[in-house]
Amino acid sequence: MADALRLVEVDPAGPADLEALASLHARAFEKPWRAQDFAALFTPGARAWLAFQGASAVGLVFVRSVVDEAEVLTLAVAPSARRRGVAQRLLKKAIAALAGHGVIDLWLEVAETNLAALALYQGLGFQPAGRRSGYYSGEGPPVDAVILRLLLNSAPG
Ligand SMILES: CC(C)(COP(=O)(O)OP(=O)(O)OC[C@H]1O[C@@H](n2cnc3c(N)ncnc32)[C@H](O)[C@@H]1OP(=O)(O)O)[C@@H](O)C(=O)NCCC(=O)NCCS
Repeated sequence: MADALRLVEVDPAGPADLEALASLHARAFEKPWRAQDFAALFTPGARAWLAFQGASAVGLVFVRSVVDEAEVLTLAVAPSARRRGVAQRLLKKAIAALAGHGVIDLWLEVAETNLAALALYQGLGFQPAGRRSGYYSGEGPPVDAVILRLLLNSAPG
């Protein structure tokens, strides 16, 4: 990559940040979240980071914690920036921040057909912890969600 990757916490979320989050989400998911959807997610315990390549936002991670548990609400990398470690860097940043705030368990749900994300999470030490049958519905048949859990003191460095 020509420019170094910069990870910036979205705090507080201004209009440009909300647009960047929505734009990245729309390029990654069939059912995009709008800027106002992201605005509504910034409740206590919510934290987000954007990854920038130069002036361009190329990735996002959004997490929310309650006491010592947290959840990855969404994670997305722009198609042109994939497979260069952006998601891994974002997740490691969020994990370090959550661990520093006393979070012990980090949870997420991922479609069982999302092999890229499953490989990413497995590489970071997430372990299967359950399944929600037919959780994702879209164009094709419903797809199960796999529930993954990471014990933060077991995350690879
Ligand atoms: C999943 C996603 C976030 C990965 O982002 P990324 O920046 O490309 O991932 P990274 O480059 O950090 O990949 C880290 C590791 O994850 C795994 N991985 C990532 N993409 C992969 C792919 N397409 N196929 C197989 N493994 C993959 C690999 O183990 C990779 O390490 P390696 O490149 O050294 O082999 C990205 O593909 C994306 O935005 N997808 C659409 C949205 C989405 O599915 N979000 C997650 C929902 S739970």
